[in-house]
Amino acid sequence: MADYDLIVIGGGPGGYVCAIRAAQLGMKVACVEGRGALGGTCLNVGCIPSKALLHASHLYAEAGGHFGKMGIIAEPKIDMGQMQQFRTTQVSELTGGVKFLFKKNKVDWIEGWGKIEGPGKVSVDGATHNAKNIVIATGSEPAPLNGVEVDEERVVSSTGALTLEKVPEKLVVIGAGVIGLELGSVWRRLGAEEQVIEYLDQITPGMDLEVCKQFQKILTKQGLQFTLGAAVQKVEKGDKLTVTYKNRKDDSVETMDADVVLLATGRRPFTQGLGLEEAGVTVTDRGMVETNGHWQTNVEGIYAIGDVIKGPMLAHKAEDEGVAVAEHIAGQHGHVNYGVIPSVIYTDPEVASVGQTEEQLMDEGRDYKVGKFPFAANGRAKAHFATDGFAKVLADKQTDRILGVHVIGPGAGDLIHEYCVAMEFGAAAEDVARTCHAHPTFSEVMREAAMACGDGAIHV
Ligand code: NAI
Repeated sequence: MADYDLIVIGGGPGGYVCAIRAAQLGMKVACVEGRGALGGTCLNVGCIPSKALLHASHLYAEAGGHFGKMGIIAEPKIDMGQMQQFRTTQVSELTGGVKFLFKKNKVDWIEGWGKIEGPGKVSVDGATHNAKNIVIATGSEPAPLNGVEVDEERVVSSTGALTLEKVPEKLVVIGAGVIGLELGSVWRRLGAEEQVIEYLDQITPGMDLEVCKQFQKILTKQGLQFTLGAAVQKVEKGDKLTVTYKNRKDDSVETMDADVVLLATGRRPFTQGLGLEEAGVTVTDRGMVETNGHWQTNVEGIYAIGDVIKGPMLAHKAEDEGVAVAEHIAGQHGHVNYGVIPSVIYTDPEVASVGQTEEQLMDEGRDYKVGKFPFAANGRAKAHFATDGFAKVLADKQTDRILGVHVIGPGAGDLIHEYCVAMEFGAAAEDVARTCHAHPTFSEVMREAAMACGDGAIHV
């Protein structure tokens, strides 16, 4: 007889959520995690610690910036030891919270690194555990770049960029993606001089272009300097670090000095030591585990979710898949709507989007309309010195159905969700436009953008 109905390998947001939902559905469940704490990359070295530092550094910048205008006299100073302690406390409280949830839901935590020995068999530190089903939820790790050796002290990945003991004089960020801009913002606000080198001719590839351009302008005003269209080739370590990059337009090679370099050129699925090959699980040439529409691999009883499979590497996408696969294993109809997965960049201002970009609609030849509204015309935003940005609603020209929403502005990461709900219900822009929104709130910007898709916004 099997020890468990389900063994989940990996205790991140995909894995731990899957384990809890499966237990709630009556299964006997274990979760294998070797990190020493539950919560995966997200809670330990990703979303949560970065948000702690983003919040602290935001308040520091506010205190040194807008406070005086509001009649608050403050001379902020940085105590890096205390700031780092604040970060680690947030992390340990949350990872402890997941441990508590496991106890509450009677999920066994098997501590150690798991290896699949075949269908229904997972070994951890020499002991074999049997299960009717296995879910692989082992997440991702920073992708390496040839010529750049990460030591997590001077040349750091997102993990080392969270634990710097002092503010670097000059930080060079390789890659203007989400990680580069979020962690880059932290150290810029705390006083680092900063250069971001990006391979493409724009920052944040895949983002709606209009939002992207505005975003770059705002970040530039904040002191981030961008070198676009340049491929970093190597980082050499001397007294200073020397970053060598090649400009794509003319192949000229240049160098730049740095005290710290942050390598943020993407992540790759983490499947090392998992025994996938021996177990016969098919993996793509990019290292992703292949799954069907029910998250099942080619081997019966072995499933995979989250960063190890295709799709955006986002904690909330993994969580949704965790719930859905647990429901599927329990004989229910687990489902994820991949068309309505929001994405958020937690800079200041925040950037958020859901659904299609204007460029995607143009490529499809879709007949669409655009409704836009600026935060500069929002009373609440004015009182908060947060008038940079706008909301943009894209709707079908004939049916008015909402196709995509893109926001850059204060609280964008929270504001986007009324549109996620609206899109799940197949709403038209008019449905949002006719919904009463409290005044004065940032959410009025979202409503006015929907109104701009119809007869027009009121306040512009
Ligand atoms: P990314 O894929 O978002 O950006 C990497 C950037 O590096 C790209 O713009 C790419 O063109 C550039 N690049 C690649 N090679 C280069 C080279 N040799 N020289 C210069 N530039 C180069 O990857 P990132 O920022 O590392 O994030 C990894 C994953 O983590 C993403 O999937 C992201 O969605 C996820 N993440 C999400 C967060 C959020 O939702 N707020 C926060 C942090 C990470």
